[in-house]
Amino acid sequence: MAAVDQIKSLIKSYVDDDEHRFFATAMQIAASEARQGHILVAQELKNIIEKARKEKSVAFLDSPKTVSINAPKRELKELIEVFKPRIDLRDMVLAPNVNDALIKLIREQKNWELLKKHNLSPRRKLLLTGLPGTGKTMTAQAIAGELGLSVYIIRLDGLMSKYLGESIAKLRMIFDAMEQHRAVYLFDEFDSIGSHRDKGQDIGEVKRVLNSFLINIEKDNSNSIIVAATNLPESLDKALFRRFDDIVNYPLPDLNQITDTIKKVTRGFSFSKKPNYKTLAQLANGLNYSEITKACEEAVKEMILSGSNKLNPLEIGMSLSKKAPLRNGQTEISKAY
Ligand SMILES: Nc1ncnc2c1ncn2[C@@H]1O[C@H](COP(=O)(O)OP(=O)(O)O)[C@@H](O)[C@H]1O
Ligand SMILES: [Mg+2]
Repeated sequence: MAAVDQIKSLIKSYVDDDEHRFFATAMQIAASEARQGHILVAQELKNIIEKARKEKSVAFLDSPKTVSINAPKRELKELIEVFKPRIDLRDMVLAPNVNDALIKLIREQKNWELLKKHNLSPRRKLLLTGLPGTGKTMTAQAIAGELGLSVYIIRLDGLMSKYLGESIAKLRMIFDAMEQHRAVYLFDEFDSIGSHRDKGQDIGEVKRVLNSFLINIEKDNSNSIIVAATNLPESLDKALFRRFDDIVNYPLPDLNQITDTIKKVTRGFSFSKKPNYKTLAQLANGLNYSEITKACEEAVKEMILSGSNKLNPLEIGMSLSKKAPLRNGQTEISKAY
């Protein structure tokens, strides 16, 4: 019989959705059974755990068994940050072109087995371009959330090494991982490796990594989703573009999308008076989603700190216009209320 603490830990890890701890505790239980001489029970437990682990494929950073690539686990940890997002597409406000591209990818991914049966490959390589704060990074999380997958964020600074050939070996490890662990692999700020091959200074290693990326992404035949995001598409090497299934441009929100964003961020709160969304949207015109989200959050903070339980639309208006003093110089918020 396992100790009460171990059972508690199992339950807690289930509640916290902490798969790593769940499996670690389960292994501890198997080990303590073995110590008590219950060899058969211990073996049975171990088998169940190994099987579940394989199916879940959660262990790739910690179990050398599942990493058949010849990599010390420390190196992978430096390269990849793993997390399980809790958002999906409904948390985002999207322009129609973006929405269409994402829905298409998700639909094909949800039916990948069916498509493969017919020798068709589902879309899975996306290049996202657009101004900062328009939702590129968030998209990788939302896709993962929709598909119940983890996001593996590739640390591009960790990838670049001054030692000859090392960056390429590391990139190879990442592409190997894609085959073994279906997930969303995010190459954020992709321009740092994807920029023009013939540009100035210490370009040697960047050039080699870019070439190697081109070769790897072309050969890649995994079931993982690759998302590369950049604010600087014009600096990308042209050879990259045709390696992706879709290139999606993220625009700034229009007036309707601004209104939807404000409604999303403030849902669940009641207002001290009915917000005039048209005016708020005009105040926010030209701001990105991130700035609008932050302005709303500032108003919520103000509400909490002032001891009120009602959100003041004027407060949102003021936060928005603080973020856009130049763009909205002429609009007077006080007129609207
Ligand atoms: N399209 C969107 N819909 C809803 N919220 C968004 C959207 N884009 C950005 N945000 C908000 O702004 C934050 C930063 O966005 P992010 O995805 O990092 O932008 P980018 O990667 O394009 O610079 C997000 O965490 C989210 O709160
Ligand atoms: Mg980003």
